[in-house]
Amino acid sequence: MAILINNANEVLTMESDVKLPRRREQMSELGLKTEVSVLIEGDRIAMIAPLDEIKQEYPHLVGSAEVIDARGKIVMPGLVDCHTHLVHGGTREHELNMRLAGRSYMDIMNEGGGIHYTTTKTREASFDDLYNKTVQHLNEFLRHGVTTVEAKSGYGLDLENEIKQLYVVKKLQEEHVVDIVSTFMGAHAVPKEYKGNEDEFVKIIIEQMIPKVAELGLAEFNDVFCEKGVFTPAQSRLILEAGKAYGLTPKIHADEIEPYEGAELAAEVGAISAEHLLVASDEGIAAMAKAGTIAVLLPGTAFFLRAPYARGRLMVDSGVPVAISTDFNPGSSPTISLPFIQNLACMNMGMTMEEVLCATTINAAHAIKRADEVGTLEKGKQADVLILDVPNYKQLQYFYGMNHTDTVIKAGDVVVK
Ligand code: NIG
Ligand code: FE
Repeated sequence: MAILINNANEVLTMESDVKLPRRREQMSELGLKTEVSVLIEGDRIAMIAPLDEIKQEYPHLVGSAEVIDARGKIVMPGLVDCHTHLVHGGTREHELNMRLAGRSYMDIMNEGGGIHYTTTKTREASFDDLYNKTVQHLNEFLRHGVTTVEAKSGYGLDLENEIKQLYVVKKLQEEHVVDIVSTFMGAHAVPKEYKGNEDEFVKIIIEQMIPKVAELGLAEFNDVFCEKGVFTPAQSRLILEAGKAYGLTPKIHADEIEPYEGAELAAEVGAISAEHLLVASDEGIAAMAKAGTIAVLLPGTAFFLRAPYARGRLMVDSGVPVAISTDFNPGSSPTISLPFIQNLACMNMGMTMEEVLCATTINAAHAIKRADEVGTLEKGKQADVLILDVPNYKQLQYFYGMNHTDTVIKAGDVVVK
């Protein structure tokens, strides 16, 4: 089966000679082409070139291909959402008025709400309940042009329920068209039953959960919520090092609410990424630039928690490779709209229209080790392709808060149109 996309106003291939996570001006390289067509063969990109060149190279394929007319529209790679808490029970709309009245996110959590509330709901939910709920969310991601999603566990907070969440992800990896990358986050909170006995829970994560998750092959990454009142930098270091010993690559929720030297820790342990970073220090940003740690910025969380935004502009200018993501979760960022997150990154973190496209495609793919497969449109890569109903890419940020997704092609199949 082949697909030929003709007449697009712009094709953003996002291609570049830079194969590492992109920094500074590399983040503005869109690989923008006009007057080209895109040929897809099976699940791969076959060729991006003027139509007559494609016809010469692939006469038979062009003859039999399904033709899509993208006149007046643009074409770009499927979006990559590299930080979500995808699988969870319940919702937390009841917390919103509390926070609007001035109660803090951490106070609500410390009083037994927040992550603890969602943990109760996730423990109560059956495997099928969680599976069916998550399918709806993934379908919504696809409608917003997101074709690859990272998914963190962390609402089970005991071995049985962490594994239940991770098996939901595994089944969805087999059955849903969206590609899902799995992260173990047993260290998302200290469950109520270990309050005052935090080190005991850290021991369980290290000695029981991480070995089991690794043995079952249920995750590639290991993440920790390093935050005052949750896990200390010392505990986070132990958990991340333990994961490394089992082949799990470290990620870290760093400097989200209070500065806690999380960015510095990410650089020190060789984490692939540090995420959130709303209040990361100058030293932490410099350490990340030096180590090449990817900053995964989540401006939806600052928006929804009414907190200061991460210093995205400074990070890009300091040479930190930056990705952005929804942080989709029921407490601090209940949105699936990665396009709206791009808008927020422009308006509230001072990133350019070009940088946010890099940050939600190829740099996001790097943050979950998928840059060889997705994140750009290049011959041989998986054919995850969007057609967006705007005449130029700048309108994506200009007509904000809207979903411009017209057609989504996932691994060579039209899945949204
Ligand atoms: O990334 N900070 C920790 N975890 C999530 C929120 C989880 C929740 O509130 O349910 C976050 O913001
Ligand atoms: Fe998060």
